[in-house]
Amino acid sequence: MYSPRLCGQSSPNEVRLPSRPASAKVARRLVLSALASWGLHQHLEAGELLTSELVANAVRHAGGRTIGLYVGRKPGWVRIEVRDSSRSLPCMILAEPRPVNERGRGLKVVDDLADRWGADLLPRGKGVWFELKVRDRN
Ligand SMILES: Nc1ncnc2c1ncn2[C@@H]1O[C@H](COP(=O)(O)OP(=O)(O)OP(=O)(O)O)[C@@H](O)[C@H]1O
Ligand SMILES: [Mg+2]
Repeated sequence: MYSPRLCGQSSPNEVRLPSRPASAKVARRLVLSALASWGLHQHLEAGELLTSELVANAVRHAGGRTIGLYVGRKPGWVRIEVRDSSRSLPCMILAEPRPVNERGRGLKVVDDLADRWGADLLPRGKGVWFELKVRDRN
């Protein structure tokens, strides 16, 4: 069974996953365990949901064979990034009102729940990321 790990105490970590819908579940588990290991229980729900959205997007819209999942901490923030092999950037759809079952909701959810988010071009693709504020213990 394929069981990647992503759980350092404070160092950034990245794993590669197959670009398939089933990877969303693996990614969610990895993010949950990293957040829990850092004691960030208040961010489990948002971290899990937004990871699902970004992985679903990378799988559906980028068309590569693999995706990368990165979870890291820096003072005051936790960052989750999903990397794919396409250099097309995501585009949040702002039209309102929208029917409940229409596509184009994922990034709106990311925009609503993340403290900040964005996308960066990489030499061979891009990373779409979100960050959540954390209160660092002294
Ligand atoms: N990783 C990505 N690579 C390329 N294009 C992307 C990526 N993520 C999002 N996009 C583009 O941004 C648009 C908006 O993304 P969003 O997640 O909001 O909607 P969706 O994926 O089309 O539908 P939904 O998330 O509601 O199932 C997508 O339709 C797609 O064109
Ligand atoms: Mg989407």
